[in-house]
Amino acid sequence: MNEIREKARKLMKGHCRVCPVCDGRACRGEVPGMGGMGTGSSFMNNVEALSRVRLDMRLVHSVTDPDTSCELFGWKLALPVLAAPIGGVSFNMGGGMEEGAYTDAVVGGCADAGAVGCTGDGVPDIIHQSGFASIRANGGRGIPFIKPWEDEELFRKLEGAVAAGAGVVGMDIDAAGLVTLAKMGRPVSPKSAEKLAKIVERACARLIIKGIMTVEDARGAVDAGAAAIVVSNHGGRVLDHTPGTCEVLPAIAEAVGGKVPVLVDGGVRTGVDVLKMLALGADAVLIGRPVSVAALGGGREGVAKYFNTLKGELVQAMVLTGCQDLAAIDGAVLHDE
Ligand SMILES: Cc1cc2nc3c(=O)[nH]c(=O)nc-3n(C[C@H](O)[C@H](O)[C@H](O)COP(=O)(O)O)c2cc1C
Repeated sequence: MNEIREKARKLMKGHCRVCPVCDGRACRGEVPGMGGMGTGSSFMNNVEALSRVRLDMRLVHSVTDPDTSCELFGWKLALPVLAAPIGGVSFNMGGGMEEGAYTDAVVGGCADAGAVGCTGDGVPDIIHQSGFASIRANGGRGIPFIKPWEDEELFRKLEGAVAAGAGVVGMDIDAAGLVTLAKMGRPVSPKSAEKLAKIVERACARLIIKGIMTVEDARGAVDAGAAAIVVSNHGGRVLDHTPGTCEVLPAIAEAVGGKVPVLVDGGVRTGVDVLKMLALGADAVLIGRPVSVAALGGGREGVAKYFNTLKGELVQAMVLTGCQDLAAIDGAVLHDE
């Protein structure tokens, strides 16, 4: 992984410093770029809040070979981790790789490691088109995320995603706040509960709603018929001064009560972080920036390698907390003060 990180650092030309810990400090305010919005506090809160979660170590048990696999949307996953949708290599990462090569690396590398890659959307069109092409090339194993465009563009892109073979599609509803789109004069907007229900109905695929940070929004998305939600603040890129996602996760997971899978992203870097998010109520996690580093520095193999490293770390964390399978990871592994 060190070689991969070194190569990525060169290719990213300062857009990402590939810091020892990817915590949003060095890149604060860099949107476009890889950073968080404004002071960068939302990105930093994701990492910091997760680092504050502490685990109880348990060794008097018989767990030696835990099972990290799970099923999600009909796919068998080797580990409960997806690559988060990330788009805009040219303006966010310094353009050291073509958008299509990037989405091929992410979607293909995830498939190789038994995970699932998501793809992003934005301006220019090559962003979503590359994602669709990579998902098609991987037999539909991937989830394209579409921005909350105004009607016509949204439905056209949702149809394109389904035509590319995607049976599950996502909408990052929080992109309604993206400055990069506002700068380009492209209309994205929040969606009322009624509108959301109509979008779910017309989507012709299961629809994941990403960008949920409150119990009310979670209930609204589930009531509208979402197939899953992603607790996310867009990696801190849309609104400054939100809490870390792991802080709002437990209440949201409890309110959803198992009706649909609850996914989460923001600051997840290691297998231990994955275990923490599952213990706090998530069914699976998404990882953003570190996957970009792996893709730029090592292509498809780099992404697969990163996911295999995560799996090894998760196995280790499960052994050390006495969890035989993912269902066994619950609040009991968390250290209460
Ligand atoms: C450069 C960049 C581009 C992104 N593009 C998208 C996108 O197109 N669609 C989307 O849903 N989220 C997008 N995101 C947000 C990620 O999917 C994810 O929520 C976030 O990166 C998770 O935080 P992490 O990077 O700390 O793991 C983007 C994030 C970054 C850093």
